[in-house]
Amino acid sequence: MIFYFSATGNSRWVAGQLAELTGDELFNMADFLREGRVPALPADTARVGVVFPIHSWYVPAPVLRFLSQLAVPASAYRYAVCTCGDDVGRGLSRLSRHFPLDAAWSVQMPNTYVPMFDLDAPELARQKVADARTFLPAIAEAVVRKEHAWCVHEGGFPRCKTYVVYPLFKHFCVKTKAFRVDNACISCGRCEQNCPVSAIRLVDGRPVWNKACIHCMACLHGCPVNAISYGAGTRKKGQYRLEDYL
Ligand SMILES: Cc1cc2nc3c(=O)[nH]c(=O)nc-3n(C[C@H](O)[C@H](O)[C@H](O)COP(=O)(O)O)c2cc1C
Repeated sequence: MIFYFSATGNSRWVAGQLAELTGDELFNMADFLREGRVPALPADTARVGVVFPIHSWYVPAPVLRFLSQLAVPASAYRYAVCTCGDDVGRGLSRLSRHFPLDAAWSVQMPNTYVPMFDLDAPELARQKVADARTFLPAIAEAVVRKEHAWCVHEGGFPRCKTYVVYPLFKHFCVKTKAFRVDNACISCGRCEQNCPVSAIRLVDGRPVWNKACIHCMACLHGCPVNAISYGAGTRKKGQYRLEDYL
């Protein structure tokens, strides 16, 4: 079984590739989060994989919530694959203290966090996806063999990023006030449907964000008419669409 969480499609694509290569079944965590439940796993479950994006060098809060309630049979092999723009700090080691893991991998994919960074240049984005495509069969093989592996790009100052920057980011940066919707909005509701944490509701045809927002940017990148921006700087950075790089 593979459970994935994804805002802008990178982790969904990685999880889908792994499901194809391992023959394991794929489940979207967001469906369970929306219903406020976690699935009961059969006692003979052979392996459980979780795939998600790294957010500020740690695991997105809804993923932590889901995993804290997931009862995994003791005999099952447990692994995590996280996607990241660059590096993951101690994010996966910290996760493994709450959700023990037999193996973990990080996979670089195009960066999506436009409030603070630019999107990757198209050549870099294409290269990251191509490299991931080459790397994923090796991950799948290790999973099928139930190997104990730890192949994670922590980057520089990993402890500081995960244990100091992450809480500051969560407390001071993840706010909804700076989201803007311009007159291009066609009230299609795509932002509301795309939001993996149900943080958007249409009011008079316009999206309104609530405090469940995790800044995943699914709304901004998924808007079909590019009507959503965050603060002053994101409009000129453009939107990210994985399909452009596959
Ligand atoms: C709120 C937020 C925080 C992020 N923080 C990091 C980070 O700490 N390190 C990193 O390498 N990439 C970071 N990224 C980039 C994403 O992890 C990366 O683009 C990921 O593949 C997106 O996956 P998704 O399309 O499945 O949502 C961040 C993205 C967002 C939206």
